[in-house]
Amino acid sequence: MSAVALRMVEQLRTRRLLLWLALVVAGASAITVGVVGVYRYLDNYWIDDDRRPFLFRVDGHWAGFGLVRLGDPNDVAEFFVLRKYRRRGIGKIAARHLFERFPGAWQVRQNPANVAATAFWRQAIPVEFVEHVTETGPVQHFVIAGAH
Ligand SMILES: CC(C)(COP(=O)(O)OP(=O)(O)OC[C@H]1O[C@@H](n2cnc3c(N)ncnc32)[C@H](O)[C@@H]1OP(=O)(O)O)[C@@H](O)C(=O)NCCC(=O)NCCS
Repeated sequence: MSAVALRMVEQLRTRRLLLWLALVVAGASAITVGVVGVYRYLDNYWIDDDRRPFLFRVDGHWAGFGLVRLGDPNDVAEFFVLRKYRRRGIGKIAARHLFERFPGAWQVRQNPANVAATAFWRQAIPVEFVEHVTETGPVQHFVIAGAH
């Protein structure tokens, strides 16, 4: 099994990489992009205290990212695995790393059209969850226990 490492993106020089990844997502899905062609909330990940950007690597190579908004509950705002790394269990491992960093209440949300994402989250959430279908799509709620 490949090693998945998770890293918070804090330095300006890595921001370009995240921007690139965001554009990959924008190109690969129907995500909303701002007027300058940038994922519109991207800058907020370096401005707002509650937003945390993570990149993850597989065997040393950038493989995807997760954007988290901390709160009650914590929320996965975006989550993406580069195509070549998909269906290898990478997303599941990275998602679990993310959850473990912030014990407490969580939610993950999906666009109703993204049935693959719903199938993924149902597998990736490591604990029992409650699923609701809202106007904006399925949402799963769950609680990650803290270290004892
Ligand atoms: C959804 C996504 C993050 C999954 O990443 P991944 O690394 O391929 O997922 P994993 O390999 O860890 O999958 C774990 C399980 O989830 C389910 N799953 C993952 N992708 C799936 C798909 N496309 N269709 C159906 N089930 C899927 C499967 O049960 C899978 O286990 P299996 O491969 O043994 O059958 C990735 O496809 C992606 O980045 N998609 C585009 C962006 C996106 O939709 N993000 C989610 C927004 S809410």
